[in-house]
Amino acid sequence: MPQLPVITFAPETLPAGGTLVVFAAEDLALGDAAMRVDAATDGLVKAAAEAQGFKGKRFGTMLIAMPRGIEATGLLVVGLGDPAKLTEADWSKLGGSVIGALPSGPNSDVTVLAETPAGALGAAEAAEIALGMTLRSYSFDTYKSKKAEDPAPAARKIIISGGDSDAAGKAWERVSAIGAGVILARELVNEPPNVLGPVEFADKAEALRDLGVTVTILEPAELERLEMRALLGVAQGSERPARVAIMEWMKGPAEVKPVALVGKGVVFDTGGISIKPAGGMEDMKGDMGGAAAVIGTMHALAARNARVNAVGVIGLVENMPDGKAQRPGDIVKSKSGQTIEIINTDAEGRLVLADLLTHTIETYEPKVVIDLATLTGAVIVALGHFNAGMYTDDDTVAAQLSDAGKATGDLVWRMPLSKDYDGLIDSKFADMKNTGGRWAGSVTAAQFLKRFAKDSLWVHLDIAGTGFGAPANEISRTFASGFGVRLLDRFIADFHEDGADKTPRGPAA
Ligand code: BES
Ligand code: MN
Ligand code: ZN
Repeated sequence: MPQLPVITFAPETLPAGGTLVVFAAEDLALGDAAMRVDAATDGLVKAAAEAQGFKGKRFGTMLIAMPRGIEATGLLVVGLGDPAKLTEADWSKLGGSVIGALPSGPNSDVTVLAETPAGALGAAEAAEIALGMTLRSYSFDTYKSKKAEDPAPAARKIIISGGDSDAAGKAWERVSAIGAGVILARELVNEPPNVLGPVEFADKAEALRDLGVTVTILEPAELERLEMRALLGVAQGSERPARVAIMEWMKGPAEVKPVALVGKGVVFDTGGISIKPAGGMEDMKGDMGGAAAVIGTMHALAARNARVNAVGVIGLVENMPDGKAQRPGDIVKSKSGQTIEIINTDAEGRLVLADLLTHTIETYEPKVVIDLATLTGAVIVALGHFNAGMYTDDDTVAAQLSDAGKATGDLVWRMPLSKDYDGLIDSKFADMKNTGGRWAGSVTAAQFLKRFAKDSLWVHLDIAGTGFGAPANEISRTFASGFGVRLLDRFIADFHEDGADKTPRGPAA
């Protein structure tokens, strides 16, 4: 695990050295504590803002070095915009903005005055700031032999000060578990593909046993016995054998069916015989982003001791071309019994997910099943890097995931499913083919999966644009974003915890 800042919560304190952080709303409105800082420094906040044209715009920052009158080496003012419009996700981004604007160097400790002009921050907002500070501090330098500055900025000690610090500390116990899940997902996506093959990835799933998760690893012989031939077909061109990892966290009422999370874990996607062009192929180390989000979420649920029944199922394979590799034209029989004509061996993720969906639904009869996959380049064309494509026939679960996305910043945008698109994957030779032609590639991929979701309440999230490769933002600076962990954790917390089942089956579409 990378080094991350140590964050504590305290009643209102002023620092003895390091950087003091205060928030300012638009028109430079300050809270009481910030006002006292302004007074103690003889009006420095107001004067510096005047000189620098800083007006309190959201996520804007202003750093004042060596402020006279307070015991700090720096005074950082961070803009809130209109505080009434701040969402929870905004508070984490504000925490990220704080980290981004801090000076580096030996005096790197930080005290944040947790208030708006309206008064002290609530515990939830204070914990979100801490989450944003943690996520922003994450970097991936495992393989750099020369380490960055010493002390590393991530080694900062951070005090979030003011308000009900006991309540904030309690909130942070829960939220930091979610943060650890996000960082676990990022670590897995960032790791190079020579280091993280299917077997090593399965070991990472097994490690969740330490948190009380029941983990089962299925090896190829067992996968054969389970007739997961669509999944095994993808793996057959690789020297590295496939694994399926099943993670059960059954801490809800015994009679309640689980929420199932299914993840695409292609540890590297060359495209297979339909090989990809060389440019950018290295990014395909991230083609296990769906599986990473599932592990990360299971980690978060276990670490915060969520009262829910949840099962995570991930398919770990490598898509390689060799003498044993699958060919275009091959026909495979999936676990469901449906046959698939392989048109393009690069449309491999849906083959993996098809068998996982069948197995998950047969084994667990989940009340809702959500699959996550870096499935198509086409979803990036449609939505870019700021929304995952969401597919489901159920309006209720669509609205719930959309809300969970807005609350956490892991945004999803609903995409269509219909019979017309479904027709595009009919095959002359088998029950279906694994690609639907040039147009609407993300939709036809979803239609393919739908044929394996049977009559379950099912959601597919195409995270090809959001799981990795997004531009750096306030809280995410590395190749991997950890997308999906906060979304799924929130969906479960709001709609499926404590025996709740707020996602009833809608009418069949
Ligand atoms: N893993 C890729 C999708 C992808 C592309 C993810 C870029 C992230 C960034 C997937 O397996 C794939 O190759 N999809 C093909 C499907 C096509 C052959 C029908 C694609 O999107 O081109
Ligand atoms: Mn592919
Ligand atoms: Zn792929």
